[in-house]
Amino acid sequence: MKYRRLGDTGLMVSELCLGCMTFGREADEEDSKKLVARFLEAGGNFLDTADVYTRGVSEEITGRAIKSVRDDVVLATKVRFPMGDGPNDVGLSRKHITRGCEDSLRRLGTDYIDLYQVHCWDAATPLEETLGALTDLVRAGKVRYIGVSNFTAWQIMKSVSLSDALGLERFVCLQPQYSLIERNVEYEILPACLEEGLGVIPWSPLGGGFLSGKYRRGEAPPRGSRISEAEESMEEYWDRRATERNWAVLDVVGEIGEATGKSYAQIALNWLLRQPAVTAPIVGARTLEQLEDNLGAAGWELDEDQVDRISEAGAPEDTYPHRFIRNAQRV
Ligand SMILES: NC(=O)c1ccc[n+]([C@@H]2O[C@H](COP(=O)([O-])OP(=O)(O)OC[C@H]3O[C@@H](n4cnc5c(N)ncnc54)[C@H](OP(=O)(O)O)[C@@H]3O)[C@@H](O)[C@H]2O)c1
Repeated sequence: MKYRRLGDTGLMVSELCLGCMTFGREADEEDSKKLVARFLEAGGNFLDTADVYTRGVSEEITGRAIKSVRDDVVLATKVRFPMGDGPNDVGLSRKHITRGCEDSLRRLGTDYIDLYQVHCWDAATPLEETLGALTDLVRAGKVRYIGVSNFTAWQIMKSVSLSDALGLERFVCLQPQYSLIERNVEYEILPACLEEGLGVIPWSPLGGGFLSGKYRRGEAPPRGSRISEAEESMEEYWDRRATERNWAVLDVVGEIGEATGKSYAQIALNWLLRQPAVTAPIVGARTLEQLEDNLGAAGWELDEDQVDRISEAGAPEDTYPHRFIRNAQRV
């Protein structure tokens, strides 16, 4: 496993991050610990969880799983979504962030969080308040770096500009949904991250499992898989995944798989690793077999032709003003 700097920081993270969202849900504690042990054995040092994953249980399991190597790992968690029914149990207010951090530290069984991320934009709280609260946590030694997830490009730009203007801590990375079948971040969000030096750690790098190759055109999704159970409000809802455009991407991934001997998941993840803005895809796995497959995405490289062929298969539509601005550079 190789290591990369997270954005413009000096922090080294493994090029694959282990997502802990399945812990306590699809994977029980024993299996989750096996997933963490195998990931660490393969050289991974970067783990991502959130307070809301299985309502705190994922953080508890993750904390116990890394206890003996706590200082060797980069532990990331998040705050924003409801952890109770009260009006202050949600959002990015100073009150909720401060309490959220204390609760996460307790569940994780540690006295610091390496990367504390806001899980999504909160339109109800002034950004100055959120950045001020996060800065205080860093200065109190409870958090090492701060990051953001599910922000638009203007929200990222406004955040880093405010941090710079007010002398507050700056977000060092973004966690967006990004995969071969969800590429809208390429329009505005990834360029903003590159411009401002934020690392990018994609979630659902396999589209919730769609890119693993186990789904087939014209067939119902295998029962028990996450996609087969996803409701319409979820990103991995079957009708959102099983589009002709996405099947065409899978066709190309399959052809390259035959040429390289690599699995669908390995090719989809390796393609992400080749994108200039990307630091480390966050791999999810329900079982050790899936994790083993996904770990095989590192340690080799698609060649440039292969990257181009895959990129073209699901390329986002060429839209204004991006097309106009690109053409203007040639004048
Ligand atoms: N910030 C956010 O808003 C946000 C949102 C979602 C996730 N995340 C983070 O991102 C991480 C990864 O997201 P994700 O779980 O959606 O990633 P993903 O890799 O797109 O999907 C993972 C799921 O796909 C299936 N799968 C994975 N590898 C496979 C393989 N090799 N072969 C066959 N099936 C395979 C498994 O589900 P089945 O076995 O059920 O098919 C697994 O649970 C999460 O753990 C979490 O840390 C963040």
